[in-house]
Amino acid sequence: MKPVSERLLKMLHQRSSRLQDGEPLSPPVVTTAKYRLDPQPGTEFSYGRDANPTVMEVEAAIGALEEAECVAFPSGMASITAALMVCLRQGGRILVPSDGYYTIRLLLEDFLVEMGLDIVTCPTRDYATQDLAGFDLVWIETPSNPGLDVCDIAEICTRAKVAGAKTVVDNTSATPLLQQPLDLGADMVVSSDTKAMSGHSDVLFGHVASRDADLLAKARSWRKLSGAVAGPFEAFLVHRGLMTLDVRLERMCTSAQRLAELFVQSNKLETVRYPGLPADPSFALAQEQMVKPGFVIGLYFANEAMAEAFIANCTMVFPATSFGGVHTSAERRARWGDDVPAGFVRLSVGCEPEAALVAAVREALDGL
Ligand SMILES: Cc1ncc(COP(=O)(O)O)c(C=O)c1O
Repeated sequence: MKPVSERLLKMLHQRSSRLQDGEPLSPPVVTTAKYRLDPQPGTEFSYGRDANPTVMEVEAAIGALEEAECVAFPSGMASITAALMVCLRQGGRILVPSDGYYTIRLLLEDFLVEMGLDIVTCPTRDYATQDLAGFDLVWIETPSNPGLDVCDIAEICTRAKVAGAKTVVDNTSATPLLQQPLDLGADMVVSSDTKAMSGHSDVLFGHVASRDADLLAKARSWRKLSGAVAGPFEAFLVHRGLMTLDVRLERMCTSAQRLAELFVQSNKLETVRYPGLPADPSFALAQEQMVKPGFVIGLYFANEAMAEAFIANCTMVFPATSFGGVHTSAERRARWGDDVPAGFVRLSVGCEPEAALVAAVREALDGL
């Protein structure tokens, strides 16, 4: 894995270094369905569903972080759908985490089972002992959302390869700055760039990245044929957000570590999950395969009432689903049917000044 700073600088400067005098530093938002076209089209710019210069700018920026080619999609779920379409065949067998982002399981169960797919689920912590023989695709999400269990990407990818299975890692909660699944042997990465990558909670976006030219070509083809095309305004917003990804993550991860330590000391919580806490079951693996342990904390209050009271009482916490934005936000995940107790809260730590955030959280805990 190259040092993070090298990939970060490449991402920041890859556009500026190819500009001529008079060209704008920020990428123009190109809104067009049509391009001028010769009778014999020899250009990639023939129609809006094929290619868009603003979308290609954000793909180049994300590609620098992934050290791989990337294909943008209009949401994280659109990128997940593309990865499934690219990696699976009729009657194929897929392993998905039972404790990962729930919508992929719904997509598989509500639509793809009908088409003959065989779906096996397993908790992230049990991936280490799961037999991978007979699978076509092993889906990995680490740290898992919302449970924050971590599995060993390199070890699973090695075993999957021996078993003849492809591996896809949903890297949404880490981003390529905190974890590099492609370096660890994954065939493909998917990401909801709606979260920390764009970072301002004002856009839906996603991408797939791979170093396998064949998988990449299929993902591009899927996008063109299915019409799951990202828009230029959204691409511009994600590009802008990416420019501050590193500084946002720095603040978010530092505050998350500080808050996790505060929560552990509180007698108002039954359990605290954060991969940066030395006593956390995810700590050792997170230290090994992540640059930092992230910005999401799992809080186990005794019951729903206490959890809701904490969210309502904390002046710095915005009650919302989703994570990775500049505003600290929280929600009870059991309301979506995640396999967590009613008192479980997923806290996404934002970019507020650390001292103010810590003071607000302490006050909310004291008030319970
Ligand atoms: C881990 C993970 N993957 C994928 C998604 C889906 O992303 P989107 O909402 O951008 O479609 C989410 C959304 O919460 C997520 O948490």
